[in-house]
Amino acid sequence: MSKVYRIGIVGCGGIANGKHMPSLSKLENVEMVAFCDIIPERAEEAAAKFGTAEAKVYADYKKMLAEEQLDIVHVLTPNDAHAEISIAALDSGHHVMCEKPMAKTAADARRMVEAAKRSGKKLTIGYNNRFRADSWYMKKLCEEGELGDIYFAKAHAIRRRAVPTWGVFLDEEKQGGGPLIDIGTHALDLTLWMMDNYKPKVVLGTKYHELAKRENAANAWGPWDPEKFTVEDSAFGMIVMENGATVMLESSWALNSLEVDEAKCSLSGTEAGADMKGGLRINGEKYSRLYTNEIELSSGGVAFYDGKAENASDVEMRKWIEAIDQDLEPVVTPEQACVVSEILEAIYESARTGKAVYMN
Ligand SMILES: NC(=O)c1ccc[n+]([C@@H]2O[C@H](COP(=O)([O-])OP(=O)(O)OC[C@H]3O[C@@H](n4cnc5c(N)ncnc54)[C@H](O)[C@@H]3O)[C@@H](O)[C@H]2O)c1
Repeated sequence: MSKVYRIGIVGCGGIANGKHMPSLSKLENVEMVAFCDIIPERAEEAAAKFGTAEAKVYADYKKMLAEEQLDIVHVLTPNDAHAEISIAALDSGHHVMCEKPMAKTAADARRMVEAAKRSGKKLTIGYNNRFRADSWYMKKLCEEGELGDIYFAKAHAIRRRAVPTWGVFLDEEKQGGGPLIDIGTHALDLTLWMMDNYKPKVVLGTKYHELAKRENAANAWGPWDPEKFTVEDSAFGMIVMENGATVMLESSWALNSLEVDEAKCSLSGTEAGADMKGGLRINGEKYSRLYTNEIELSSGGVAFYDGKAENASDVEMRKWIEAIDQDLEPVVTPEQACVVSEILEAIYESARTGKAVYMN
């Protein structure tokens, strides 16, 4: 009988209820025994729905860490609390999964990497898009060298009008920014992981606060309050890597564009290209002709069963617990996530100063 891991949840809001707790509850070798939220009813509801019979509820994560015998802590609070709580949990001997982005600032992200190293515990970040079937396949293509050297890539995170108006997403102080740090982070993580390139050389960025000023906007979640919408509505970046490769990052919660794509990337290599637009496609040239292949991600061609893999969140949680159980490196390493945070911060800095930011 393998060990049963005791998990504490900090932050029982949207992502806890939408991803972590439902997917963890499908695993046999974990139990959720402690729930913490500064809004106590949220912790109580989560404990009642996902906890063991003896599960405890806390409003203060420090008390939870001191009183509970936990193996793993999931940090699912707004961005500004990620570093403090993750570092405290690592330093008190817990493995930590923290939501994306790793931290509000690059300095905090680096402190988290240090804490993981000094504690000897595992730290991972919730970049769940890596665990989709199309991402997994694209990663395989890259690893097998089928695209050759990837020297141009695009990270897509564009919404036409889908500004998250709940919680603290529009609060610069709590989140550290708008769509760039919220959804640009997923697209950039995916792109760098595909390229397996974590050495940025120079970053140029721009950001805009234009549609944010609109009253009564046609937003997916109802109109936003322009007074409260203080973060950028769009931000764009050009990242030149040490090996000369170029990454274009586009992120927006509200843009006048029909090209909407989110948590996707397009890659161009010396042998072929691949993108996630309209399904996973590979493009190239063979026998002096161009080809475009569409990858069929369902399997078997059986009418009653499409053979689709588990959902990405279930795969993410399963692989995270396996990494702990089998002492493997997590799929998302803290070092990788830290580079994503450093690039995002460089884009913000470049947008503010109007100058390119040279990394290192
Ligand atoms: N992986 C993804 O695709 C994805 C999607 C959505 C959100 N997220 C990330 O998850 C995090 C939370 O987002 P959300 O949408 O769940 O927000 P949310 O506002 O719905 O939930 C956050 C919860 O944390 C609680 N909280 C705040 N400070 C706390 C503290 N110090 N201690 C304990 N609890 C605290 C809040 O009361 C709230 O219940 C953010 O970092 C966000 O970027 C990731």
